[in-house]
Amino acid sequence: MCGIVGYIGKKEAYPIILNGLKRLEYRGYDSAGIAIYDGSNIQLCKTKGKVADLEEKIKKEITIKGNLGIGHTRWATHGVPNDINSHPHLSNSGNLVIIHNGIIENYTSLKEELLKRGYTFHSETDTEVLVNLIEDIIKKEKVKLGKAVQIALNQVVGAYAIAIFDKNKPDEIVVAKLGSPLAIGIGEDEFFVASDASPFIEFTNNAIYLKDEEMAIIRIGRDVEVRKIKDDSLVAPYIEELKINLEQIEKGGYEHFMLKEIFEQPTVIKDTYRGRLLVNKGIIKLGGLEDYIEKFINADRIIIVACGTSWHAGLVAEYIFEDWARIPVEVEYASEFRYRNPIITEKDVVIAISQSGETADTLAAVKLAKEKGAFVYGICNVVGSSISRETHSGTYTHAGPEIGVASTKSFTTQITVLTMIALKLAKIKGTISHRDFMLHLRELELIPSKVKEALESNGKIQEIAEIFKDVKNFLYLGRGHNFPVALEGALKLKEISYIHAEGYPAAEMKHGPIALIDEQMPVVVIAVNSNHYDKVVSNIQEIKSRQGIIIAVVTEGDTIVKEMADYIMEVPKTPETLTPLVTTIPLQLLSYHIAVLLNRNVDQPRNLAKSVTVE
Ligand code: AGP
Ligand code: GLU
Repeated sequence: MCGIVGYIGKKEAYPIILNGLKRLEYRGYDSAGIAIYDGSNIQLCKTKGKVADLEEKIKKEITIKGNLGIGHTRWATHGVPNDINSHPHLSNSGNLVIIHNGIIENYTSLKEELLKRGYTFHSETDTEVLVNLIEDIIKKEKVKLGKAVQIALNQVVGAYAIAIFDKNKPDEIVVAKLGSPLAIGIGEDEFFVASDASPFIEFTNNAIYLKDEEMAIIRIGRDVEVRKIKDDSLVAPYIEELKINLEQIEKGGYEHFMLKEIFEQPTVIKDTYRGRLLVNKGIIKLGGLEDYIEKFINADRIIIVACGTSWHAGLVAEYIFEDWARIPVEVEYASEFRYRNPIITEKDVVIAISQSGETADTLAAVKLAKEKGAFVYGICNVVGSSISRETHSGTYTHAGPEIGVASTKSFTTQITVLTMIALKLAKIKGTISHRDFMLHLRELELIPSKVKEALESNGKIQEIAEIFKDVKNFLYLGRGHNFPVALEGALKLKEISYIHAEGYPAAEMKHGPIALIDEQMPVVVIAVNSNHYDKVVSNIQEIKSRQGIIIAVVTEGDTIVKEMADYIMEVPKTPETLTPLVTTIPLQLLSYHIAVLLNRNVDQPRNLAKSVTVE
């Protein structure tokens, strides 16, 4: 995620764009920048840090006068957050200036071609490649900006929402969209472009939301010209009259950021594997892993260090890595690992999992592992975060900012990355058949649609939440790959509803917890199709025989558990190893609705912080 804003009209562009960037900061940022056409030149200022830092820098560096401009808050994907990698980016001639939200997957090959043609690059970003590709097309094909953008985007693979203008044609802005949002605000002799309507809703409630693979040429004094990128054909734009307020825009119309992020999972899981899971080629490409495959293949063991939900993702990985890649895995609470003088050798690979990349215990564990000679690999969401910089290499989850304190999309995107790593290693080691490798590649590609299907039970799960919202204790049970999901489900309920809940391996019931079972204790059981299914059915029978109440997560079409459970939450069928990616969805929703019914502060639960940067 990130934020793009643009303005062309009769007002001063700078205050509109600056305020618009502040409105978009919720979309995540690590740097920000603005470019304004002042009548003869492009005044550009950009900086690592917050929009407020940009505002201070602008006061010192440039005079911002002009009626045409673009601005950007960056959520880095290619190139760490710093001044040079911040947007906007100029083309080599200095005539074009662009802002971009998304990922250009094939930027490396495009950059190689442009380098051969004498282009130079100042930043590490994929975005700077795009602006020079457009410039190159203008020069070679002798076409205008709009046509050049259309030609260029037909060479691009990836996701984008872009805004670009040419200082030699300051009466137009060109925008385009694929995979990232882009709205055009239609004012009186003025136009706005932005990632959502929050920067312009106070000026106009008339907006065009571009669809994927559409672009628009926005000219002062003319109607917006919307075209299809594929064939340049004209599209009749649909102008919506917006009836939403600022707060509703930031939450995408959802009541809380947590619910928005739960529903974002189909999209962000696709972003996580975009350009990495190449089913047609039968390969998995992970930039940070390619140079270190031998470290993993020859490792004595993999030690995973993490906290909270990220630790649960590590537990899922233990099952996946050992099952497929046959590499011994140990999963450690980072807070325990760092103090117990662990035995670590150069033959160990340590994987640190952290959404924020700033969790103090996990960072300390990384440093300890490095001191003891291990190769340390990071799986983080925040580009340029401390853990991502401290590790030898890593893979970003590309989940976009997670605003809700309770981790949801970070969990499923972490598991997606870990699954790709395990599949890749297993293929190289030959510990997985080609048939099973290809099957799981295809099934992993289908996960976003299966998560979307699981989300369709939202209404039914809300009804279950209404029944159990006043309960004081819950048990969560799962087996195999879904035991960590049971732990995660219990954590979600605890941290946002303040109801006590415990997760257990289902078989553990007989070793004590079954004494807790009575008609007051609902038991959430993950009972999807798996090698353990019959055993889970027996566990359910043990609970039923003690008047326990069963809320079961089942594979759609299940007929056995469906007859035994008091309530069921269905998920689509998927191979057992991938089931955590779908079984966690109803548990996230159950916790969310119970917390809302209890009037909890869902996005900022009491006593919690999004990133625990203290010990
Ligand atoms: C889980 O919902 C919490 N947000 C918390 O347990 C979190 O997973 C933990 O603090 C680790 O955070 P990290 O992934 O940013 O390191
Ligand atoms: N891929 C671009 C970059 O890393 C844009 C990232 C974003 O969406 O902010 O600069």
